[in-house]
Amino acid sequence: MQDKEIILSRETIAQRVRELGKIISHDYAGKKLVVIGILKGAVIFMADLVREIDLPVEIDFVRVFSYGASSTSCGEIRFTKDIELSIAGKDVLIVEDIVDTGRTLAYLRDVFTCHEPNSLRICALIDKKERRDVPVWVDYVGFDVKEGFLVGYGLDHAEQHRHYPDVYHLKMSNS
Ligand code: IMP
Ligand code: MG
Repeated sequence: MQDKEIILSRETIAQRVRELGKIISHDYAGKKLVVIGILKGAVIFMADLVREIDLPVEIDFVRVFSYGASSTSCGEIRFTKDIELSIAGKDVLIVEDIVDTGRTLAYLRDVFTCHEPNSLRICALIDKKERRDVPVWVDYVGFDVKEGFLVGYGLDHAEQHRHYPDVYHLKMSNS
């Protein structure tokens, strides 16, 4: 049985997404942005975020596989869907749901750097800084969360719970 406790309400998320949209629009003023979402977790956050960015925006997605149905990282990453747009010479913003160990973003940052974008920054809804194994700088952070497994607003556990409008801390029965 899985108990859950709300930690970020839809109102709190919407307000922070509006703030991030304003900051990003200001930082990239006069530029065109390519926003790359990491499937599947970032899809709801990204859909809301791009609508708060007041700039010409192109969007694309990548899919990496690292977790399977487990709630702890196995440390292995597979690239299962690549970007379709060319990002050479462009200003690129990677959008992620949660940065945890940092492995996924460290991998993607290296891969995208090979495409020689003009700039490459990272935006994450949630940063679990304390859990880093690999150093990754997140340029735009929605919320810092210290611990716990989170679901909702795109975040899943074994592909469940993504559709909740709020973010919950999932209490596993064995923890
Ligand atoms: P990292 O490579 O360890 O930074 O893993 C980041 C990925 O793990 C995120 O894109 C999420 O898909 C997943 N993840 C990490 N923590 C959570 C969580 O609390 N809830 C749901 N997914 C998580
Ligand atoms: Mg993810």
